[in-house]
Amino acid sequence: MDYKDFGLVNTKEVFSDALSRHYAVPAFNFYNMETLKAIVMAARETQSPVMLAVSESALKYMGEDLLMGMIQGMNIKPEEKIALHLDHGSSFEACVKAIKLGFSSVMIDGSKLPFEENAELAKTVSNFAHQFDVSVEAELGTLSGIEDENTHSEYSSYTNPDDVVNFVNITNIDSLAIAIGTSHGAYKRKSDNEKLRFDILEKIASALPDFPLVLHGASSIPQEFVNTINKFGGNLSNARGIPADQLRTAVEKNICKINVDSDSRLAFTAGIRETLATKPEIFNPRDYLNAGMQNIYNNCISEIRTIMNSENKIK
Ligand code: G3H
Ligand code: 13P
Ligand code: ZN
Repeated sequence: MDYKDFGLVNTKEVFSDALSRHYAVPAFNFYNMETLKAIVMAARETQSPVMLAVSESALKYMGEDLLMGMIQGMNIKPEEKIALHLDHGSSFEACVKAIKLGFSSVMIDGSKLPFEENAELAKTVSNFAHQFDVSVEAELGTLSGIEDENTHSEYSSYTNPDDVVNFVNITNIDSLAIAIGTSHGAYKRKSDNEKLRFDILEKIASALPDFPLVLHGASSIPQEFVNTINKFGGNLSNARGIPADQLRTAVEKNICKINVDSDSRLAFTAGIRETLATKPEIFNPRDYLNAGMQNIYNNCISEIRTIMNSENKIK
């Protein structure tokens, strides 16, 4: 299927608009009807462009037909500036599959490969995707992964600003994910003093002026959700995210796509835990799933307004 048949857009126009008007397009991950609906409704409420991000494991969880059926069911219009994006595609084949399903944007994540192999893979994906007007994101530098037992077990390997121009020229990608100190998951920083490496971001942005840069692992980990989860039986001690003011600074320095997954996971879990704990008589899943969905909806609206600066940017 062609993504245009689903009313989706690629990222070309939104990214160039985001760069000139200094906002970030939010890329929120989804994996079921509740998460998808919450994100699309929040984007509609705020008139914000949005990228609906699907990891390979989320794609497997939903199933291809159900996923695309849900996208169709959202009745998306091109003027809403909604992209469907493969998050962390692990191979050329995974990107091809997503493009054939109707995705309008794919990430090929070769960030763990040596430079030349990463560039070669991204170039191959770019050549294929661009035939269908699909946008391509690749990554240079690696983010630390989700830590085991709440400890920082891995170190980030920052993007080398000296590599970026060469990488973009070889690959012909449409956006570049960079590593400046963010990491995936809910345990991003050992202390509140840790800051993103804005010096690296500035060097990258001046080497690649007017080129869309992407921040992964950028959840702010709202403490209200962490506290609610812990209060009602969870155990997420020392969960810490990227402070909103640092994310806003990143947006001013050419970050024009910000990836958020963990915040929605926390929002969903907090709503479900609180509802089950405070209303022990209920057993209709719609009651607690709806509470989780409302939390995601509210949090997406809040992040669109306070971090992304993308409200009212669809026109
Ligand atoms: O960056 C990774 C995303 O948070 C997706 O994670 O593969 O568990 O869906 P997942
Ligand atoms: P978080 O774990 O910080 O939400 O990062 C999400 C992400 O980068 C998805 O690609
Ligand atoms: Zn990511």
